[in-house]
Amino acid sequence: MIQCHVFVAISLDGYIAREDGQIDWLEQYNALLPKGEDCGYASFYESMDCVVLGRKSFEKVLSFSQWPYSGKPVIVMSRSAKEQMLAQPQGVTFSSKTPAELLTRLEDDGFKNVYVDGGELIQSFLQLNLIQSITMTRIPILLGQGKSVFGKLDSDKKLLLKTSRSWSFGFVQDRYDLP
Ligand SMILES: NC(=O)c1ccc[n+]([C@@H]2O[C@H](COP(=O)([O-])OP(=O)(O)OC[C@H]3O[C@@H](n4cnc5c(N)ncnc54)[C@H](OP(=O)(O)O)[C@@H]3O)[C@@H](O)[C@H]2O)c1
Repeated sequence: MIQCHVFVAISLDGYIAREDGQIDWLEQYNALLPKGEDCGYASFYESMDCVVLGRKSFEKVLSFSQWPYSGKPVIVMSRSAKEQMLAQPQGVTFSSKTPAELLTRLEDDGFKNVYVDGGELIQSFLQLNLIQSITMTRIPILLGQGKSVFGKLDSDKKLLLKTSRSWSFGFVQDRYDLP
């Protein structure tokens, strides 16, 4: 069975980015991490077969000096954007399928573990019960407002805490499974 996984950094008040999409606060904290410390990101990324990204997150990462999703196929989900509308690094394709349709196609293509990234996109997968794990690293900052990783749901979702760890520099990371 194909499985979808989330790995996000959030402010203490639950935001993944400022309202305008800026993640300067996260970049500032990341720049202060001890050399070689990535809070488990590289090992998580290695274990994924492909990345499914919200269109807004894709546009954001296009502004990075380095393409962060090297070596993996990236599928950008958009209901409106067409591939030719945006510059595309190698390995990037667009999809306007529903999340369930896309996962069926990816499963047929042999993918097992999917890294789902982008606030609105994560919310739509969660709403459809398509997420199997969430790793959430809390950064010790309050932003007051921004883009939330979680949104409205039609019903409660219960999660199982699998691991929890913290670092002396103030990050706290919890990994939850969704049964
Ligand atoms: N802190 C972190 O760990 C972290 C992680 C990821 C991203 N971010 C930040 O979060 C910001 C972007 O997040 P976001 O919540 O604004 O947007 P997002 O989820 O990246 O992108 C939203 C867009 O994705 C498309 N989309 C979403 N759900 C869809 C669905 N079910 N089917 C088809 N298309 C779908 C739509 O594109 P169209 O409008 O084209 O239809 C939608 O407008 C960026 O600033 C990024 O840097 C932070």
